[in-house]
Amino acid sequence: MKTLRVDLGGRSYDIQIERGCLRAAGARLKGVCPKAQKLFVVTDTNVGPLYYNALKASLEAAGFNLRVHVIPAGEASKSPSQLSTLWEDMMDFSLTRTDAVIALGGGVVGDLAGFAAATILRGVDFIQIPTTLLAQVDSSVGGKVAVDLDHGKNLAGAFWQPKLVLMDPDTLDTLDDKTFADGMAEVIKYGCIADAAFFDHLTAHPSRLAITSDIESVLYICCDIKRIVVEEDELDTEHRMLLNFGHTIGHAYELAGHYETWTHGQAVAAGMVMAAKLGVSLGVTPVDVPARVVALCAAFGLPTAIPCDIQTYTAAICRDKKGAGADISVILLEELGRAVVHKLPKVQLVRLLNSFHQVL
Ligand code: GLY
Repeated sequence: MKTLRVDLGGRSYDIQIERGCLRAAGARLKGVCPKAQKLFVVTDTNVGPLYYNALKASLEAAGFNLRVHVIPAGEASKSPSQLSTLWEDMMDFSLTRTDAVIALGGGVVGDLAGFAAATILRGVDFIQIPTTLLAQVDSSVGGKVAVDLDHGKNLAGAFWQPKLVLMDPDTLDTLDDKTFADGMAEVIKYGCIADAAFFDHLTAHPSRLAITSDIESVLYICCDIKRIVVEEDELDTEHRMLLNFGHTIGHAYELAGHYETWTHGQAVAAGMVMAAKLGVSLGVTPVDVPARVVALCAAFGLPTAIPCDIQTYTAAICRDKKGAGADISVILLEELGRAVVHKLPKVQLVRLLNSFHQVL
């Protein structure tokens, strides 16, 4: 087992990475929630049928009383109405403040269950059991939980750190290639922003099969980078912004596809390529970097350019949380493995992005 400790004082927790650890969940939870008697498990219609029975057997063997709440798979479930249904079901189950909520699934399940845990009874313990690559390397670590509003994604949320992140790489075996690639965009991001040797490792293992042969190390490296960033800036006021490399531009692509045409990872991949090109044109990024990011994203079947018009870029940039006033902060690469926050006028950013599209 590989273990990482996220050191946040009283909110510290372990990330445990181990094949088959889903079946050891009962004993692991006893250790972190010693007073809990009831566990409220949130999962979805894709993940529940695959993994809930194994989890249930382990939790019941450890003496926990369980309730499972299955949400429809998909982003539409990250809604205030679904949150409200969860709250009511938690109260029907007579959950108390010493009990705990478990998220078994991908990012939607983790974000929704985490926000429900953060708010029910003014906060109960929460355990993440992420089952997608994207959730394992990104959303299950760091405590960001949220639901979407009609005005945009993740607009109502909280920072609510889990008590434990239990990561079973075996759960990745059932992902389709598109969903695996979605997570690879975030994996590639870590190489870009913080670890050139890791970027080279990924480049030397340019397929799902090659990466999966030592997936525990890949998960460990990604989570360790995220751990360091989160420990430095838990509440996302400065340094944590580096994790948004490719995301500001990626949000424009998600918007351009009405959140249906492109997955988050696909949009982030094209966003990272565009951010690399932007960095070159601003004199921040070495000229060879865009081609290297393109090659790695393409190797995993991720798009490296997405059509987008000037109005959509403008709309996405205006919505961005890093854009106060006339300027916006974007994340650029000083070199592969080193990211910086770069402030520039929003109008200049839109003009540059649009000019790249003229030559696509
Ligand atoms: N996914 C970016 C963050 O956790 O800050």
